[in-house]
Amino acid sequence: MCGIVGYIGYKKASPILIQGLTRLEYRGYDSAGIAVMEQNKIEVKKDKGRVNNLYKLDGVEELKGTIGIAHTRWATHGKPSKENSHPHLDNDEQFAVVHNGIIENYNELKDDLIKEGYHFISQTDTEVVPNLINYYYKQDKQEDSLKLLRAVKNTCMKLKGSFALEIISSKEPENMIVVRKDSPLVIGKGHGENYIASDIPAILSYTKDFYFLNDYEFAYLSRDEVRFYDMELNEIKKSTKSIEWDSQGAEKGEFEHFMLKEIYEQPRAIRETIGTRLSNLKVSFDELNFTKEYLENINRIYIVACGTAMHAGIVSKNLFEKLCKIPVEVDIASEFRYRNPLIDEKTLTIYISQSGETADTIAALKLAKEKGAKTLAITNVIGSSITREADYSIYTHAGPEIAVASTKAYTSQVTILALIAIYCAEILERADMNKIEALKADLLKLPTKVDEILKDTTQIKKFAKKVYKEKDMFFLGRGVDYAVSLEGSLKLKEISYIHSEGYASGELKHGPIALIDTGVTVIATITDKELVEKSISNIQEVITRGAKILVITNQNIENKGFETIIKIPQISTEISPVLSIVPLQILAYYISKEKGLDVDKPRNLAKSVTVE
Ligand code: AGP
Repeated sequence: MCGIVGYIGYKKASPILIQGLTRLEYRGYDSAGIAVMEQNKIEVKKDKGRVNNLYKLDGVEELKGTIGIAHTRWATHGKPSKENSHPHLDNDEQFAVVHNGIIENYNELKDDLIKEGYHFISQTDTEVVPNLINYYYKQDKQEDSLKLLRAVKNTCMKLKGSFALEIISSKEPENMIVVRKDSPLVIGKGHGENYIASDIPAILSYTKDFYFLNDYEFAYLSRDEVRFYDMELNEIKKSTKSIEWDSQGAEKGEFEHFMLKEIYEQPRAIRETIGTRLSNLKVSFDELNFTKEYLENINRIYIVACGTAMHAGIVSKNLFEKLCKIPVEVDIASEFRYRNPLIDEKTLTIYISQSGETADTIAALKLAKEKGAKTLAITNVIGSSITREADYSIYTHAGPEIAVASTKAYTSQVTILALIAIYCAEILERADMNKIEALKADLLKLPTKVDEILKDTTQIKKFAKKVYKEKDMFFLGRGVDYAVSLEGSLKLKEISYIHSEGYASGELKHGPIALIDTGVTVIATITDKELVEKSISNIQEVITRGAKILVITNQNIENKGFETIIKIPQISTEISPVLSIVPLQILAYYISKEKGLDVDKPRNLAKSVTVE
């Protein structure tokens, strides 16, 4: 989960590279660096610290070169330091490389290179790459235009793990080579210039036309041309895809943080995710060709994801079961892969990933595919890696989500999952049609109801000021409200660093209630009218032990000793998390802000975890 940027064109490269890195900082931000071709010599400027530090490094201002590569790091091998920052050079300083991913066999490669007389400056896995290129380049006695490409290809054949690589060389000072395997990389096509980045927002302000590389495909770039090669170095043809995101979507605008902007973008994101799918009599998914016979043959659905995406999956489980009468299991991707899940051709597997680059989720998909299951990916990033692996891909249309803490992606995911459940139910004809019609009507009301909640966040801000110094918090809920509690707890943890737990209300008395003491904050969500009484009695159990209670509800509940009640609009229970999560997102945001923390780039985190 690092960020890489490249530029080859006629403008000064360094400002383009550094600005691109600032847009990728959410992918990792403990050190950064750039390498620019200056009169056929590679100049490297890099150091520990945030991207903006690059402007202060000696000689950066003087860089005039128009070809360069750049990197912002989330350390995996070797602590954040100048030596461990990218770009890395070979011993002869003829090849510069930036890398996103992990080279799992780097120790073995390093030993082999040391035996060949190479030495290493850093503790990183990446530094083996420029030296391997150097080695193969020297070994190759064939002098032709593909010599550098062959050296890069031979190097990639030796690498195990994941990589997105950008390479420049004083041997071919007018070109750049990029290649990827399991790590994201996009190429933005300009006029007399080309841009490379880990993902679209970093270069969207320069172009809307993008090439997408598959694993082990090479791009050989000059200013005016991009040529593509497969693993056998056969030239292949690719066409660009136009990305309609507006570049403002990747900017904060009048908001102080991306997270707040993205919370307020949720009505639009939900509206655009629904799009035209609800305009006909039946929900439509042209991307899916499910037949009644195929769905009737399905004996199990797995929903597999990580973090917030997994929480969205938990919300959808009971809707799929209720409407389709098919057993659904929701799995954490990193667990799914190693528990030897029961999978065959009667299994439908659904993968949720905002970035479409999460290594654990993609690996789980590959496992299920090998075992004969159909694979359906739900992602927010066009052309992301997961879409190249899945049998079917469906996009949320939340627009670029920059803040590390996922908000609009979550509510868009819950929305699209509900639509898919209804789509399958209408084909299977197993559900109560009145229920389906009620759900469709409520889905269309979601954007307006989210707007309603966002119109007045006074109570939530006040509660945030009361509790931001807390050390522990509990989030309680039953049914879908339990799923919301998990997500509310994650939001708080990841941006405020306050320990919290999402717990099933009914489970608290089986042990954890021992943690409840005077003043402990408990946040309860109650949106299922069938479960109001039981939820209230659970809350009373903690109030009698001194807890401070915030209740988020769409029910008429009398305030019996609660600190605060936040009323949200009524909606079908199965999709109520789209509404009840909003106050919890806002709460986490203002608590983090009160603590003066970096809301968009919390410590230790990165926006997409492309390593296992
Ligand atoms: C959510 O706020 C976190 N940033 C994290 O849990 C995230 O949801 C998880 O890493 C999955 O990412 P993905 O949706 O891009 O696969």
